[in-house]
Amino acid sequence: MPLSTSVLSEVAVRAAAQLDESDEFIDRLATYGGIAIGHLEALYGDREHFEDALLDIFDVAIDAAGARSEELHRRDRAREANPRWYQSPDLVGAWVYVDRFSGDLPGLVDRLDYLAELGVSYLHAMPLFARPDGANDGGYAVSDYRKIHPPLGTMADLEKVAAALHDRGMSLAVDFVFNHTASDHPWAIGASKGRVADQECYFTFETEEETRVYQPWLRAIFPDEKPGSFIFDGTMERWVWSTFHNYQWDLNYRNPETFRRMLGEMLYLANRGVDVLRLDAVPFIWKEAGTTCEGLPQAHQIIKAFNALVRIAAPGMVFKSEAIVHPDEVRSYFGDDMPAGRECELAYHALLMVELWEALATGYTHLLRRSMEAHFAIPHRGAWVNYVRSHDDIGWGFADEDAFALGIDPGLHRSFLTATYAGTAAGSFARGTPFQVNPVTGDARISGTTASLAGLERALLHADEAAIELAVRRILLIHGIAIATPGIPLLNLGDELGTLNDPSYLYDPLLAADSRWIHRAPFDWRRAERRHQDGTIEARLHGGIARMVRMRARFPALGGGRRYRPLDVGNDRVYAAVVGEEELVVLGNFSAERHLVELGGFFTDVLAEEPIHERCVLEPYALRWLVPE
Ligand code: GLC
Repeated sequence: MPLSTSVLSEVAVRAAAQLDESDEFIDRLATYGGIAIGHLEALYGDREHFEDALLDIFDVAIDAAGARSEELHRRDRAREANPRWYQSPDLVGAWVYVDRFSGDLPGLVDRLDYLAELGVSYLHAMPLFARPDGANDGGYAVSDYRKIHPPLGTMADLEKVAAALHDRGMSLAVDFVFNHTASDHPWAIGASKGRVADQECYFTFETEEETRVYQPWLRAIFPDEKPGSFIFDGTMERWVWSTFHNYQWDLNYRNPETFRRMLGEMLYLANRGVDVLRLDAVPFIWKEAGTTCEGLPQAHQIIKAFNALVRIAAPGMVFKSEAIVHPDEVRSYFGDDMPAGRECELAYHALLMVELWEALATGYTHLLRRSMEAHFAIPHRGAWVNYVRSHDDIGWGFADEDAFALGIDPGLHRSFLTATYAGTAAGSFARGTPFQVNPVTGDARISGTTASLAGLERALLHADEAAIELAVRRILLIHGIAIATPGIPLLNLGDELGTLNDPSYLYDPLLAADSRWIHRAPFDWRRAERRHQDGTIEARLHGGIARMVRMRARFPALGGGRRYRPLDVGNDRVYAAVVGEEELVVLGNFSAERHLVELGGFFTDVLAEEPIHERCVLEPYALRWLVPE
């Protein structure tokens, strides 16, 4: 009997003995069990006792299904009946640091009206879990996946947040930092103390020499902190792989036990009511000597195996990938449309974000257009997550080949963009701050809030009314393009109020070295009040964004999928795109001048509520959403 058949039969027997008769676990096992085994076999098939390892992995899935609440089982069934539920045009996301938005998790429940008012139906609560006391990368160093960072509340509070969101028809997303744990996670402490089973969950080396097999190929992510990817742990007296910060230790997925443990943590979170799991730093999870250790085939296989097991034990949950790499690599984390190729259902559309800022800096849209033409298409099942600002820096991740094809030198162009947004280039409207300037490669990234990067801070500083007007338009323009792109728009809460840079992080020794805190400002509830005062910047931004959010629900083609086509309107200052079969035509003027565009045909601008015949005028930074008549 092939291994897969015998293991699946045994799993089915165990599941039948343990789970309720009404549980569809065994039906799902029939579809996804063989797929999970196929991927796991490719990863671990040559291991001794592989069959036992497989059974242990499936036991975790059975236990999780047994522990899942009746309410979540109902949610699973509803989503299986509507498997592309996340492709609905009325799904609009927002992300927040809970402490900076509502103080804590119980406080968040009281703030849901604000989200509802903005039309938000998907909330991404930034890292929530226990973390080291000192530096912890904003919670991206996790000390315990089953414990909430105490100032934020408890796991029971998180369940209440999930239930409150679900009651309102909203979804909850949380981070799953699965490439590394904090160096004070119990497994890491066990490893430090010499516990072999724990040590095998990380990459540790006796001598620095051994790390040199890998080091020359690896990219420095935080070059400000350390040049390489390894640190020496004095307690263990061994070298440890740490791609990111010193206190973030990379997990070793070559060990099936690491996979099993992390599946347990993942399903534990699924059972708290999480709808979307943001898979952090996905490209890094598999290492192979002589490679960059990013985006290797095995990394994809691990995600596919996780996904198949989630389909069996908690099918109401989907994955969102966070990969800040070449645009085609980013796309690859969707996998394909066959059940065995299913990887992440959602992915951050970093290219769109980068290109919106690139087009604002240059006033030209040809690289934006080419980028969307070349890299937008995704599997039928996937949906892009479209955003203008995340909690991270902006790295200029357009594809070099696209730049070359347009006669742009990618290196020089990136330096220009960094100088523009750092505010040092002549004529720049922006006030940002550089992040992780790498003197070796010349690479640099940018921090700053949407409003400060779009010119609002500088304009307010100079009390320049005309410049304020342009900044407000820039903010609405890039939001309008992101909101009118198929997928899920993800708002950075605070952007709808024009939140400016917050330099106070410089006074906190734990944060001062990380300029990303400049754009993670506390949410200003007093400023939020001004959204009701006509004529204020807050009212214009909040009103404009909320209106586009509501409007988008009218266009089914915005719900996801691939039907999106940039359009050449014969003017490089204007970006144009067609959504669906001409359901919506989006036009955006990325320059500070007025432009006339010949369209041919009759349209209604649904934002301005104005008929457009044959041609239309675009004021500086104007945005139009046109519906053919
Ligand atoms: C992701 C996060 C980033 C964090 C890194 C390490 O890129 O978005 O904030 O520093 O992972 O976990």
